[in-house]
Amino acid sequence: MRPVILKDAKDMGAKAAELVIGDIKKKPDLVLGLAVGGTMISFYQSLVRLWKNKKCDFSHINTFNLDEYVGLSESDKRSFRYFMQRHFFSSVGVWQRNVHFLDGRAVNLNAECRNYEKKIKEVGGIDLQILGIGRNGHIGFNEPGSGFKSRTRKILLSEITLKDNARFFGNNVRKVPRRALTMGIGTILEARKIILLASGKKKAEIIHRALHGEVSEDVPASVLQKHKDVTFIFDKEASSELD
Ligand code: F6R
Repeated sequence: MRPVILKDAKDMGAKAAELVIGDIKKKPDLVLGLAVGGTMISFYQSLVRLWKNKKCDFSHINTFNLDEYVGLSESDKRSFRYFMQRHFFSSVGVWQRNVHFLDGRAVNLNAECRNYEKKIKEVGGIDLQILGIGRNGHIGFNEPGSGFKSRTRKILLSEITLKDNARFFGNNVRKVPRRALTMGIGTILEARKIILLASGKKKAEIIHRALHGEVSEDVPASVLQKHKDVTFIFDKEASSELD
């Protein structure tokens, strides 16, 4: 579980992209789990650069995004689907039919979550899952207290997550949707391989707790200590409290 520690977000994005591309070369129909957020931007920039330089081919991959707000449509600039379109899918060749999102506007949200699990199973499970981490240790939108066996489901976002994500909602915490859909921790743990990225000083404390603290539902990311193939990629600031 030795972390890779790099200079900055740009280097982290390049490293993660290199690992993903390496796996796609070995398995062109790789099933890739994806995340959004500030940390992910340089990762998608690197993937797009590699694709434009013809260093990789995404035409056979399947993708599954981790989470989505309840109530936002894909044309809403604050939805995760919009983020992915803007930073990745609009620039590279991935078959739309192979791109999967949770629909936060589904009439029956429980059925939507069950169906997502079914689709993941149908393609043989996730080969490689990309994760970020919240300041409270969430992975996907699995907030503290989420069960380690939890599956894709509705979740109420914690105060700290609402506050952190208010920056995408005009800095107005009241505008951030309270509810989201997220792959569960059990779902994430079934990924054959995981890469977690974290950058910045504000993640340093939780990174220390996730890697060296007790494995506990209070810190959802701590469960990764039990996964057999996780690569942690940090910048210097995020790793500054590691021993
Ligand atoms: C989003 C997701 C979240 C983020 C986390 C970090 O798909 O899964 O767990 O990765 O909230 O977000 P940033 O990178 O904005 O700090």
